[in-house]
Amino acid sequence: MKELIAEAAEVIHQSKMTLALTGAGISVESGIPDFRSAGGLWSKYDPEEYATIGAFREKPEKVWQMLRDMDEIVSNAKPNKAHIGLGELESMGLLQCIITQNVDNLHQAGGARNVIEYHGNSSTLSCLQCGRKYSAKDKQGEFPPRCECNAILKPDVVFFGEAIPGDALNRSFMLASTAQALMVVGTSAVVSPANTIPGIAKRNGAKIIEINKEETHLTHSITDIFIQGGAGEIISALVAEVKRRLGSCGNG
Ligand code: APR
Repeated sequence: MKELIAEAAEVIHQSKMTLALTGAGISVESGIPDFRSAGGLWSKYDPEEYATIGAFREKPEKVWQMLRDMDEIVSNAKPNKAHIGLGELESMGLLQCIITQNVDNLHQAGGARNVIEYHGNSSTLSCLQCGRKYSAKDKQGEFPPRCECNAILKPDVVFFGEAIPGDALNRSFMLASTAQALMVVGTSAVVSPANTIPGIAKRNGAKIIEINKEETHLTHSITDIFIQGGAGEIISALVAEVKRRLGSCGNG
């Protein structure tokens, strides 16, 4: 593990343009279950019945049963060492942008400023009837939350069957095509179009550093450095090693 951390730290230290692509795995140590690991959200709720825009339009109260479960967990979640470590790399000028599939706002809470949210953010709600917007906090405790026009509100997250926000898509593709290093953290990389980011970066010469509890289909195809284990521990060690290198350079 030590050699892999050193190798990855060297790549990040040398890179002039580093990105991170993160998934639910980076927030598991904050108490938020991921989707596809054993015991993940999709083992409890069938995504076909709970996570498509069609399901929401047809049975919003039912979908809000899952959303409320998630809200109770996410609203109490704190950024973990992985979120904080990426925020530190950003403030050191060694991480230019985080592209996240998560909607938990934990990258921002962990200090990152430049975050592209592929699947939206659960902190605001919208009315599909009249277009009014609300903060989720203002509607906490109301189940399901309703608009003043009485329609059931939808969280501003991207359901299956909805488009990824256009600016998120365009910016992320542009960044991925100019990246020199891409950290892929806590994602099974099975959902498109987020899972096309590593291939774009790779084709443009970026070094791919994958951090995951287990191997994914990227590991033996495009990953250059695979560091297996918990994101919190690994990213903390990585940031410490990068700081050591910066320090040693600083001493001339
Ligand atoms: N540290 C590192 N990796 C972890 C950890 C951890 N502590 N815990 C879990 N993982 C890994 C799992 O091994 C898995 O490869 O994180 C990955 C999580 O994969 P998924 O559950 O599929 O989550 P994600 O890749 O973010 O899913 C993408 O699918 O359902 C949709 O919209 C949803 O944004 C989500 C998208």
